Amino acid sequence: MSIFATKSIEQISLEQLGAEGTGGLRRVLGPSQLIMLGVGAIIGTGIFVLTGQAAAANAGPAIVISMVLAGLTSVLAALCYSEFAASVPVAGSAYTYAYATLGEFVAWVIGWDLILEYALGAATVAVGWSGNLVTLLGQLGYTFPAALSAAPGTVIAVAGGDPVTAVFNLPAVIITALVTCLLMFGVKESVSVNSAIVGIKVAVVLIVIGAGAMFIDPANWHPFIPENTGRFGEYGWSGILRGAAVIFFAYIGFDAVSTSAQEARNPQRDMPRGILGSLAVCTILYVLVSAVMVGLVPYKAMLNEPAPLVVAIQAAADRAAGTPWQTPMAALKILVTVGALAGLSSVMVVMMLAQPRIFLAMSKDGLMPRWAGKVHPRFHTPHVSTIVTGVVVAIAAGLTPIGTLGNLVSIGTLMAFVIVSIGIVVLRRTRPDLPRPFRMPMVPLLPIPSAIVSFLLMLSLPWSTWQRLILWMAIGIAFYFAYGYRKSVLRNRPA
Ligand code: ALA
Repeated sequence: MSIFATKSIEQISLEQLGAEGTGGLRRVLGPSQLIMLGVGAIIGTGIFVLTGQAAAANAGPAIVISMVLAGLTSVLAALCYSEFAASVPVAGSAYTYAYATLGEFVAWVIGWDLILEYALGAATVAVGWSGNLVTLLGQLGYTFPAALSAAPGTVIAVAGGDPVTAVFNLPAVIITALVTCLLMFGVKESVSVNSAIVGIKVAVVLIVIGAGAMFIDPANWHPFIPENTGRFGEYGWSGILRGAAVIFFAYIGFDAVSTSAQEARNPQRDMPRGILGSLAVCTILYVLVSAVMVGLVPYKAMLNEPAPLVVAIQAAADRAAGTPWQTPMAALKILVTVGALAGLSSVMVVMMLAQPRIFLAMSKDGLMPRWAGKVHPRFHTPHVSTIVTGVVVAIAAGLTPIGTLGNLVSIGTLMAFVIVSIGIVVLRRTRPDLPRPFRMPMVPLLPIPSAIVSFLLMLSLPWSTWQRLILWMAIGIAFYFAYGYRKSVLRNRPA
């Protein structure tokens, strides 16, 4: 049988879900928990760090337009994911959708690619978490040993002393270990912890919007679209586009909801609610936060910082001096750091929840070793692949700088979006009869621009990121021919 053989949706459901209908996992998640999962995965480094930096370097106050553009790209992809997740409600997400539409080889490629999104996504966020923890400890008067706070070789300036060369990022490894332990215990426990953290981070974002809005200086919004410097991506319309590519990272995560389809009580109805609901909430919050941020400070001089949102709130606090708002605004600075720490932990929880479920689906298809598909008899979680994910994330987070990781996550995610968008059109043609509890409107009129826009955003990422993507894919393809090609359940079935 060809490496482009597809699996029918009926066969996928039967194999993945087994006789009891869940493949050993538990159907415990309702619509609000799924929205919380999405918001948990979405709000993180993107809004707390990258948005301010992209305003400073690329878009200026028009970062608000970049936000809307990146949001629209995500909405198009989210509609595709919603149609698939409602019709094929199993744990493998884009990997499974590709298996049903474009064949085993493309499915493998996308499954391997998703490791970039989820495992490396969690590693990126772990490094961001580490930076925020060191900042918070500093605000509270404690010094964390610089040598243990970043990737090997990173030179760190130390106040009043010689610069230190880091050897290892210890806090990033510790938070990874903690999240791994939580995920082993059960999806319900993990989701409850996630919901609590999401509550904190959304509250912090709302307070920033409300309190920040009182101290905006409208002069900072002018000119709204600063004149281009003559180079692509530095302000003007090209800056808005480059800004959209950079902050696209902020929207990554809504698709992680689809990996929990096997644990949703009513996936046909609630998958689209979880995916589109979480994206809608975050898009509104993002547009408002970015408008407030560039209204508080001059973007060019002040937002190119490791913690731009804190800088913006500090400016609001300075303006509040002498008013009754002075003390609350000063406290808000610490609250933003705490909100960022909470926000980043929940992104890790959801990404590291998603990754083992994709390994689980790949293992059931014979493309990954059987151990990756083991489900714990008492906790009902894929415990072995959860530990393997934890180890991979810890190694990447302990040893790699954040910039390298972040771009790889974006390119990997965009590639998944391109394939899922194409998959929607293919499945409408090959299986027009399939029950579709949620239908993406205007097919193929919307999925085609969805694939094109995602591909354009991929093109706007640096060549070094493309090289890493190509290397990663080459390793994956070699692994497929060495292992999956021989062990595939689909292709080894008796005819
Ligand atoms: N959207 C997630 C973040 O911004 C990945 O951290």
